[in-house]
Amino acid sequence: MDKFCYLAPKLNNFTTKFYSKLLKEQDIYILAIESSCDDTSAAVLRGKEVLSNVVATQQIHEQYGGVVPELASRAHQQHIVPVVHQALAKANIDKKAVSAIAFTRGPGLMGSLLVGTSFAKSLALGLEIPLIEVNHMQAHILSHFIEDSNSSVPDFPFLALTISGGHTQIVMVKDYFEMEILGETLDDAVGEAFDKSAKILGLPYPGGPLVDKYAQSGNPDAFPFPRPKVEGLNFSFSGLKTSILYFVQRETAKNPDFIKHNLEDVCASIQKTIIGILMAKLKKASKQTEIKRIAIGGGVSANSGIRDALKRAEAKHGWSTYMPKFEYCTDNAAMIGIVGYFKYRQGKFTDQGITAKARYAIED
Ligand code: KG4
Ligand code: ZN
Repeated sequence: MDKFCYLAPKLNNFTTKFYSKLLKEQDIYILAIESSCDDTSAAVLRGKEVLSNVVATQQIHEQYGGVVPELASRAHQQHIVPVVHQALAKANIDKKAVSAIAFTRGPGLMGSLLVGTSFAKSLALGLEIPLIEVNHMQAHILSHFIEDSNSSVPDFPFLALTISGGHTQIVMVKDYFEMEILGETLDDAVGEAFDKSAKILGLPYPGGPLVDKYAQSGNPDAFPFPRPKVEGLNFSFSGLKTSILYFVQRETAKNPDFIKHNLEDVCASIQKTIIGILMAKLKKASKQTEIKRIAIGGGVSANSGIRDALKRAEAKHGWSTYMPKFEYCTDNAAMIGIVGYFKYRQGKFTDQGITAKARYAIED
């Protein structure tokens, strides 16, 4: 191990900031913690390489049809210690070798964020190492910079479509920490549109992956749903959810077995409509900014339909598209770790006075 790596954590904040810029990439070990919603995750990165990425998904919410905040924070409390232990064990490193702790400060559920924030603060204090706060949505975008021999990294500037259970945004990414929102949802996030549609169809939470699964054997043109007309680069999904609800109520009144007999076709039609909305806005944003490097991030970027549509757009519009590996699409600590790495390099540390921030804009 490089002598700076060993020394840096033991030095004061000013000196650590200085040494963090001199260290070699492979001598920087970041322990990252993510607890913004219903996944407790910890990861260890050496430079930009992921050594471990452990995710404990909370099953308890399934029976309630959505995330129950109080139950989520309790489950984080139960999971966080074993998850961190497992991440260190899988990475095969001792906690004393960690250079800094990175954690999700927000946005997310306050009770959930508090668990990760308090844990990260205590551990950094105990180990006498720097603490790094991370914006969860920036992390979804910067997950593209995780080192992986199979994928290429976008050059700046690029456009990022962040699609998750809580967000839907088109972001112009000018640099690692210079991001501008060009458009966003005015109501529901796209993940919510998937999950709420799935609920209408009687599917369990989270329904997004199930809609995707059934859509793959359905006819996407079977039931055309109207697309909302929204100004500029913003989105709206609440109207779509209502029209799906009315449609299903109408059809099941005529035939109580309608869902059973048409599940694949309904899912394929919903998925086609949602992807059509996303792609139309992406095309508009690309034309407006003249940027043809397009990245996606967030849980919904695991969707097979959006991935296919982007691949087709490469040939059709001359885009270069960037899609995270599946394990870095939904919430995970590896993406928090890569932000931690870049912040470590820049000496962007935080102090013990830091608190969680449920509403935390990507531009802050
Ligand atoms: O990023 P994420 O894990 O958590 C948030 O920050 O919200 O995103 C979770 C969302 C859920 O709404 C889930 O249904 C959706 O991502 N999702 C999908 C797929 N996989 C996850 N939606 C559509 N198709 C998928 N394959
Ligand atoms: Zn997320």
